[in-house]
Amino acid sequence: WIPVPNVQELVREDPLQVPQRYVREPENRPEVTDMSHLSSLVPVIDLSLLLLGNKEELNKLDLACQDWGFFQVVNHGVAKELLQKMKDAAAEFFELPLEEKNKYAMPSDDIQGYGHAYVVSEEQMLDWSDALILVVHPSHYRKLKFWPNSPTGLQEIIEEYSNAIRKVATELFQSLSLIMGMDKEALLGLHKQLVQGYRVNYYPPCSKPDQVLGISPHSDSSTITILMQDNDVCGLQLKHNNEWVPVNPIPDALVVNVGDIIEMWSNGKYKSIEHRAVANDNKARVSYATFLYPHEEAEIEPLNHMIDPKTKQQIYKTVKYGDYLRNSMKRKLEGKAHTEMA
Ligand code: SIN
Ligand code: FE2
Repeated sequence: WIPVPNVQELVREDPLQVPQRYVREPENRPEVTDMSHLSSLVPVIDLSLLLLGNKEELNKLDLACQDWGFFQVVNHGVAKELLQKMKDAAAEFFELPLEEKNKYAMPSDDIQGYGHAYVVSEEQMLDWSDALILVVHPSHYRKLKFWPNSPTGLQEIIEEYSNAIRKVATELFQSLSLIMGMDKEALLGLHKQLVQGYRVNYYPPCSKPDQVLGISPHSDSSTITILMQDNDVCGLQLKHNNEWVPVNPIPDALVVNVGDIIEMWSNGKYKSIEHRAVANDNKARVSYATFLYPHEEAEIEPLNHMIDPKTKQQIYKTVKYGDYLRNSMKRKLEGKAHTEMA
């Protein structure tokens, strides 16, 4: 087990210190140039239109998944008040003393709890963030010992927020099924059992934001990921045409990205895009990521009708989701970000 400092605590002790293990090689540092103007290029999808079967919006979704692998969702139906309640409760949790948060500390043999997942060596570069990671659905998968008791009500709020986000996910799966040429319920069925994970990332301010990364570049091993961001703090960036494009918050919108599994099901038509988070010099940032996964026994392979009938080329091997997940964790640790090809 490799003990890793709590980053929020490092900053509490001395806001100016940035230990060497967080300092990236020059080529991996975030650019200082402000790329904010590119953020408006990231597609915006209106979920209420998708639910009406609006052809134009479905077409936008199709292009977003092909060209960007990312989009922001508006009119998603989740009450603003619920989003705010989730943010307020999480903020209170992170403000607790370390001893209190460490009651839910992630053990060395788990990736649930409060701490840092995937740290395996003393040499490994560290991310400028702490996280709380939970499996939230189905409920019998939960490990309640990692669900914080304080602040009061946090558990119920996580439950309520997760249910609302799962509804959005289910609706998105319906539209994604349609644009993938299937009936509405097909993608949900392919999960065997829809599994939902939740990761709240806390990025403390950093006195040298241009030398660290909040989260290293990676793609998600989910089917899709649904992210809520703070309304006024930026940090998420995605790779597009070899540039890091910021995904700046649209207030109360949700950011959705295509994960590795949709990339595989679509035989590469839709892309699971590399992304990262950068730190800010004066503000802490919190992000709230919901991951949707298939059951670990689900066999993942390109859908027959997504394979080009002429070339018959199946780009990805058939793999059990559980095996894929274990492998992708290993690859992440070796610093290789992307999907295994056939
Ligand atoms: C993530 O990719 O897991 C988090 C991204 C973010 O904080 O915006
Ligand atoms: Fe991610």
